[in-house]
Amino acid sequence: MDNQPFTFDIALPGGIPSTYSNHITRRLSSMRGQYADEQTYVALLAGGDALLYEVYEEQVPENAGELLHGISIVHPGKVGDEYFMTKGHFHAEIATAEVYYCLAGQGVMVMETPEGVWAVEELRAGKVLYVPPRWAHRSVNTGSEADLVTFFVYPAHAGHDYGSIEKQGFRKLIVEQGGRPAIVDNLRWLPPEQR
Ligand code: F6R
Ligand code: ZN
Repeated sequence: MDNQPFTFDIALPGGIPSTYSNHITRRLSSMRGQYADEQTYVALLAGGDALLYEVYEEQVPENAGELLHGISIVHPGKVGDEYFMTKGHFHAEIATAEVYYCLAGQGVMVMETPEGVWAVEELRAGKVLYVPPRWAHRSVNTGSEADLVTFFVYPAHAGHDYGSIEKQGFRKLIVEQGGRPAIVDNLRWLPPEQR
């Protein structure tokens, strides 16, 4: 049985540091095939390559024993009904965990194991989320106007496996229904034995 993700609250300190050594930006064009409403995705992209999220990281040697850490900012917006989100990944060294601390905004972390066990946890300012080893993770901004800002820290040798998620996405999607976020099935997703 896999460990389950868990969360708890810590009172929020002030300010977001801005001295990180590496800045990564991800645009709509890098999310091809990830949004359920392909037609709307193509139409939006034709109108411009929107900036969906950014990561500020402090570069450290990618060795076991070091900790990579930084700030992830997912901007608000939707592709059809589906909120802006990160690509999401397993760690290449799959037995490595990650801690997220939400600094600002509203959102969720969508997670799943290679066997297809899934979990969705709320992210809001002050919330700590523990992503256990073996759980893929994707942050989703469910706010209508504000950025979703999280601090993250994980073993520096973990690496990223994006390919497994790119093939069919996560088992669950986060969409707006009646003005609120809802968890729905991803119809493209197949259990491991049917892939
Ligand atoms: C690192 C991690 C975060 C994400 C960031 C962007 O292991 O989980 O720093 O890398 O939130 O998401 P991805 O990497 O999925 O594009
Ligand atoms: Zn990660």
